[in-house]
Amino acid sequence: MRTRTQVGIVGAGPSGLLLSHLLHLQGVASVIVENRSRDYVEHRVRAGVLEQAAVDLLKEAGVGERMVREGLVHNGIELRFGGRGHRIDFPSLTGGRAITVYGQQEVVKDLIAARLAAGGEIVFEAADVGVHGIDTDTPLIRYRKDGSEHEVSCAIVAGCDGFHGVCRQAIPDHAQHVFERTYPFAWLGILAQAAPSHEELIYAYHDRGFALFSMRSPEITRLYLQVAPDEDIADWPDERIWQELHTRLETDDGWRLNEGPVLEKGITPMRSFVCEKMQHGRLFLAGDAAHIVPPTGAKGMNLAVADIHVLTRALTAFFKSGRGDLLATYDATCLKRVWRAEHFSWWMTSMLHRFPDDDGFQQRLQRSQLDYTVGSRAAAASLAENYVGLPFA
Ligand code: FAD
Ligand code: PHB
Repeated sequence: MRTRTQVGIVGAGPSGLLLSHLLHLQGVASVIVENRSRDYVEHRVRAGVLEQAAVDLLKEAGVGERMVREGLVHNGIELRFGGRGHRIDFPSLTGGRAITVYGQQEVVKDLIAARLAAGGEIVFEAADVGVHGIDTDTPLIRYRKDGSEHEVSCAIVAGCDGFHGVCRQAIPDHAQHVFERTYPFAWLGILAQAAPSHEELIYAYHDRGFALFSMRSPEITRLYLQVAPDEDIADWPDERIWQELHTRLETDDGWRLNEGPVLEKGITPMRSFVCEKMQHGRLFLAGDAAHIVPPTGAKGMNLAVADIHVLTRALTAFFKSGRGDLLATYDATCLKRVWRAEHFSWWMTSMLHRFPDDDGFQQRLQRSQLDYTVGSRAAAASLAENYVGLPFA
C-alpha cells in the first residue's frame, strides 16, 4: 500500500509531532510513522523543562492552552551545596525571561490531539521502519503493519526518530561527523505522588553525588540521583532511594523533602553526542536523532523544538517558493545552538557531579566554580541566560 505526501516523518516524539503540526499550519502535508503505540509515547516520562522560546512557539502554534493552564512558570533555580541553598533569579538576570515546568509527555499528548483533530495522519506501531532513496528526489519510508507492507512516498524525509532510530544510519558512515562523550555516571529518576516541598528546582552538589529536585504538578515530585553507569535498578528499593535523596538534598537549616508513593522509576545513561551531518540528500535529522545532551542543563527537548523551528521555515520556503537555500544551510544554522547547549550541559554536568577517580582536585575546582557562580552577578547571569535559553534563530 502506498501513500503520497510532501514530508515523510519518522518518529512521533516532540520533534516529529511538532514538525507535522507546524507544517500543517503552513499548508504543507506530512505523514508520521512511529514504531511504538500511542499509549506508549503518551506515557514515556522524560524531560520537564521548557525554555521561554519553546513556550512562546507552542503558544503561537495554538498548542499551548493546557501548558499555560497547567504548566508551572519558574523564575529561578537553586544551587544547593555546603548544606545551604543559593537562588539564581532568572528575570532579574535575563531581562525578564523564565522557564516553564511541563512534562514532555504532556507536550506529546497536546500535539497528538492537535494533529488528529486536524485530520493529520500518524501511523503508530509500524514495524521494520526503513528509509530508502534519500539520494533521489522521491525518497520512501517503508514499514510493515498488520501483516502488510506499506510505503510513504514523499519529497523530503524528516528523521525525528531519536537517538536509537534508523534515520541517522541512512547517512553513509564516511559522511557522518560524530562527536561523543560518555560520563562515568547515570541518573536514577523517580516520579512520586508527593507535593513538592520547594517551589523551584534544586540542583544539589553533595559528597555522595549529585541530586535534582524537580516536579510535574502541585501533587507530583520528580527526583533524580547520580548513580554508577552500570547500576541495577533492582538494587534500589524505594527506601534506599528516599534515604539517599534525604541525605543529598536536605539542608542544615531544616529543609525536609516530602515522600510519597513511587509511581515510576528508571535509570538514564549520560551522554554528549553530536552528528554534525544533520542532512544528506533528501533526509533531514532533527532532535535526539542528531544530538544528545546530558540532562543536567534541561536542554534535550528544547533543542528538538529549536531544530524544528528552523526546519519548518526551510521546508516552507522549499514547498511554497521552490527555494532550497534555507534547506542547504539547515544543519549549519542548527549546529550553532546545538554546540551552545552541548557546552552548557557539559559544564553543568562537570560542575555538579562526583567523578569516581577524583583525588580531590576536581572537587576543589567544583566548589570554587559553585562559589563563583552564586557570588558573582556576571557568572550567575551566564548560567541564567543559558538555562532560560537564547531566542530562536
Ligand atoms: P524522541 O523523544 O526520542 O522521539 C523519537 C520517536 O521516534 C519516539 O517516539 C520513538 O519511539 C520513535 N522511533 C524510534 N525509532 C523508530 C523507528 N525505527 N521507526 C519509527 N519510529 C521510531 N531531556 C531533558 O531535558 N531532561 C530529562 O530529564 C530527560 N530525560 C530523558 C530520559 C530518557 C530515558 C531519554 C531517552 C531522554 C531524556 N531526555 C531528557 C531527552 C529528551 O527527552 C529528548 O531530547 C527529547 O525526547 C527529544 O525529542 P525527539 O522527538 O527528538 O526524540
Ligand atoms: C525534570 O523535571 O525531569 C528535569 C528538570 C531539570 C533537568 C532535568 C530533568 O535538568
